[in-house]
Amino acid sequence: MTRTIPQADWQTLDALRRGFLSPGPGGLRDYWSSNHALEQYDATFAQRIRWKWDAVLDELRANPAWTLPGGMALLDWGCGTGVAARAFLSAFPAMRDGDVMVSDRSGRACDFALGRIRDEHAPARLSRWSGGELPAGTVVLVSHVLDELPGPALQALLALLHQAEAVVWVEPGTQALGRALAGLKATLLDRFTTVAPCPHDGPCGLLQPGRERDWCHFFAPPPPQAFQDRRWSEFGRRMGIDLRSLPTSFLAMRRAAPSPVDCPPPQARILGRPRPSKGLVSCLGCDPSGAIVETRVLRSHDRATHDRLRDGGFCLRVSASIVG
Ligand SMILES: C[S@@+](CC[C@H](N)C(=O)[O-])C[C@H]1O[C@@H](n2cnc3c(N)ncnc32)[C@H](O)[C@@H]1O
Repeated sequence: MTRTIPQADWQTLDALRRGFLSPGPGGLRDYWSSNHALEQYDATFAQRIRWKWDAVLDELRANPAWTLPGGMALLDWGCGTGVAARAFLSAFPAMRDGDVMVSDRSGRACDFALGRIRDEHAPARLSRWSGGELPAGTVVLVSHVLDELPGPALQALLALLHQAEAVVWVEPGTQALGRALAGLKATLLDRFTTVAPCPHDGPCGLLQPGRERDWCHFFAPPPPQAFQDRRWSEFGRRMGIDLRSLPTSFLAMRRAAPSPVDCPPPQARILGRPRPSKGLVSCLGCDPSGAIVETRVLRSHDRATHDRLRDGGFCLRVSASIVG
């Protein structure tokens, strides 16, 4: 699965998986009991998380409203093995010149993450963040931690985020976590401008009454090795994970509002997976006003849009007039 672990330790992976599935009240206790557990996680669950980060960061790189000035710092909060920071530094290599920091309740995880980030990116200044004030101009990354945070820990994280210059938060695209992230966005709007995925800067329309069953999520593309490498198929089978599907909810916000020239043209964002059926694609769209709209595109009316939606993708946008 990676160069470092030729053999997966199913007992360790299974224990981690069971813990993640049932965090329980008050969050899980510190489960990073050894470097071995971190290595196993890093080669498997974290790789899968990285595929999601890669999709999110590809989208941000293509978005002029996300352009980062030089001299910014990076903090991977709840870092685990530091996969979010590593993905970010790959996508935005200039950030290696600034401060790169990690934090986690587990000191062992921080040490492990620091080692992996150093090996992969050799940033100029790399440290464990010791709390207190964030350096000016810090981008904070949060990944796959929301359902482990009891109320006070989440409040502390939100207070920290208020010091940040920008935030990228990635969670599994489950209904519960997708909706929870939408709720958190509302609490960050007093401080930040929304860069993605929303095509608007208001509260999430899915939190309106009548939309309780829907949530904002997208499907990241798995790399070819997820299908071709028998170790990945064994991992998927043993862990009960469908590797073809990488549901992802995310939020990217920054303090500075983009200049009007950097704003992408107003388009609707397609949520979840479009549903093709006999010359028709149905999907749920979030339009630039923040409204959630059920949309149907007939192949006979607009073949190009129909085919694009049918083929799917992580970042599907259509003209606002199509969902309007
Ligand atoms: C599922 S792991 C995700 C790790 C990493 N962010 C990733 O995406 O692979 C959740 C991480 O959050 C950390 N964590 C949980 N509760 C925390 C808290 N209250 N403060 C800081 N870190 C916490 C755990 O130790 C663990 O490393």
